[in-house]
Amino acid sequence: MYENLHIVTAGSIPHNRPKLVEFEAAPMTEIDRQPEAETEYEDHLARSESVWNRWSNWYGMSERDFEPIREELIADLEISEGDTVLEVGCGPGVNFGLIRNAIGEDGRLLAIDYSPAMVEKANRRVQESGWENVEVIHADATTADLGGPYDAVVATLSLSVMPDVERTVQNVYAALEPGGTMGVLDLQEFQSGPAKALNPLLRRFLRWYANWNSDEHVPQVITDVFGGYDQFSTYMHGTVFTLRAERPRTGEDSFI
Ligand SMILES: C[S@@+](CC[C@H](N)C(=O)[O-])C[C@H]1O[C@@H](n2cnc3c(N)ncnc32)[C@H](O)[C@@H]1O
Repeated sequence: MYENLHIVTAGSIPHNRPKLVEFEAAPMTEIDRQPEAETEYEDHLARSESVWNRWSNWYGMSERDFEPIREELIADLEISEGDTVLEVGCGPGVNFGLIRNAIGEDGRLLAIDYSPAMVEKANRRVQESGWENVEVIHADATTADLGGPYDAVVATLSLSVMPDVERTVQNVYAALEPGGTMGVLDLQEFQSGPAKALNPLLRRFLRWYANWNSDEHVPQVITDVFGGYDQFSTYMHGTVFTLRAERPRTGEDSFI
């Protein structure tokens, strides 16, 4: 399954932990998309790179905004010491401290992001904190061979800015251990009431600000891929949500 995977030795990772992998996009023959969709995908990804490179200089101003929500989300994943965790769209590593506390010194966190400037900032955080078991990789979460299997995956404020949310979630699902969990924090439109009239404005703003992908509704994609989710909570008039989804333990995969 992971024929693109290249083993890289890393002295800092204990021998009984999974080996590190070098990332390489899946061959295009597996992707099976129309040329027009392909161009849309590439355009969205290229714009993401420039948007998030730019915002990486200002991210520190807002990185504590969702702190209590992040704490609760990561606690709900019940990550144990020694676990292997993947973070997709990690940005400058805002969640690293929480995840590192949960996995301890013997676990492993692999974090990926498509913006080189974000990866650089995340790497700086890792070095300054002296975390030897946290690695940051520059890669597209949708097409990278993610390796694994992981005990848990974290995606905060990232899935909804990716060009193909469904393929990303399928990619992540395939990298999860059966019984492994995924925690998502993300944004959505107003779901009810008079505030729905503001949705067109909200969509435009988020497309400009974050290169938001308003075509896909993350909770629906999670349902399609995982077969459902639990611990769904909403904040800020329903526009911010968290959820937890579990990969079934045995032969009940809903999309593979
Ligand atoms: C709003 S930031 C979220 C950062 C962090 N997870 C947080 O909670 O603050 C979205 C991040 O997703 C990254 N991203 C967007 N598309 C991506 C992709 N296809 N693969 C990996 N990362 C991506 C961006 O570069 C950006 O750093």
